[in-house]
Amino acid sequence: MTESPARTIPIGGRSDGCPFAPAPELYEAQQDDALRRVRVPSPLLGAFDAVVVTRYEDVRSVLADDRLRMGGSMPYQAGNLLSYDGPEHTRLRRMLTGSFTSKRARELRPQIEGAVTSALDELAEAGPGADLVQLFCTPIPTLVICELLGVPYGDRAEFQRRTALALDFTQSREVQMEKAAEMEAYMAGLVARHRKAPGDNVLGRVVRDFGDQLTDSELAGIGNMLLIAGHETVASTLSAAVALLFRHPDQLAVVRDDPSATDGAVEELLRYCAPAVIVPRQASGTICVRDQEIAEGERVVASVLAANRDPGATTGRDDLDRLDVRRPVQRHLTFGFGPHQCLGQQLARMELRVALPALFTRFPTLRPAVRDDELDYRTQALVFGVDTLPVTW
Ligand code: HEM
Repeated sequence: MTESPARTIPIGGRSDGCPFAPAPELYEAQQDDALRRVRVPSPLLGAFDAVVVTRYEDVRSVLADDRLRMGGSMPYQAGNLLSYDGPEHTRLRRMLTGSFTSKRARELRPQIEGAVTSALDELAEAGPGADLVQLFCTPIPTLVICELLGVPYGDRAEFQRRTALALDFTQSREVQMEKAAEMEAYMAGLVARHRKAPGDNVLGRVVRDFGDQLTDSELAGIGNMLLIAGHETVASTLSAAVALLFRHPDQLAVVRDDPSATDGAVEELLRYCAPAVIVPRQASGTICVRDQEIAEGERVVASVLAANRDPGATTGRDDLDRLDVRRPVQRHLTFGFGPHQCLGQQLARMELRVALPALFTRFPTLRPAVRDDELDYRTQALVFGVDTLPVTW
């Protein structure tokens, strides 16, 4: 069935030399025609052996295959779409899709612009040396998701701290579970309020339209999943994208000076940063990838970071290791693929499209206040980003 796993690859799979690049083992695996088995250290699941999938078409095919199950990989179960499979997953996801369409994201643009403007004002007030993560990257998506969900913005310090710990792979399983339980207790209180008087927001709508089909614990789980996925991912992506653009001033100038390039630039930054780790899957039957068997019970880890740079992802002769915000076609799997593909991707895109050009237009000389090698890149978390990003102008 399987040869014994030869290598250990951290779940984020980033290179020690450059935090934006895949680990060399992933490039090697991509060139190898045989699928590789590796050992993946994980405080959540314990170290586990897995087939690592790195080619663009292979990642799409495994993520689309519903025989590959989530396999209880997530610590927060009830209500969290990432812990459901099959019809149960479809049923729950359908309750939420109407709140996360492209149209809904366009309607939210004025609110996003408001959040961006107030973050930029705070940054200006703080002055050079301010931390961009604290004053810009984090408040924007937090404010947006709080308004969207009906979560009091005043509670942000607590839930941000809990989220960061719960998603940090360097924390023990106990700490992660404890934080998950605290988050559930917090959301249970909000759900109880919406049960009494459903608000005009996503949580209120779910309670009003589907409240009789959902337990309180499922509702709390839905709220937490959206709260976590809604702020941590975009905040991390903003921090990673800005740090990346600082490394490439010519590309930063395009984002700043050419509004017609914004949408494409955001896709390229998403492709290149690939901030979110895909949840490991488990085969519920024998499946084949390029005629090679993955046996029932085997785990599968799909590297979006590697897949986004796979020459097979492009029909041209593009060098996908290069950042090019004017690249005409940016095929990427940063939001995953298949039934679990990111529910909030249109919202995320809208936030990035508004926030990034606005930042560089308001502060045209924006640059890092510390050397890049002094930055603390979060390479061992479920979502890649930078912890703090002091800037000057
Ligand atoms: C740039 C920002 C974001 C990135 C990179 C990202 C990435 C991803 C990825 C890769 C997945 C699939 C995980 C898997 O298959 O294992 C996912 C799922 C999900 N995302 Fe996002 N996400 C982002 C923003 C958001 C936002 C803003 C929200 C909500 C407001 C959100 C909500 C979700 C939900 C609910 C799922 C689970 C979907 C399901 O299982 O059906 N995400 N995201």
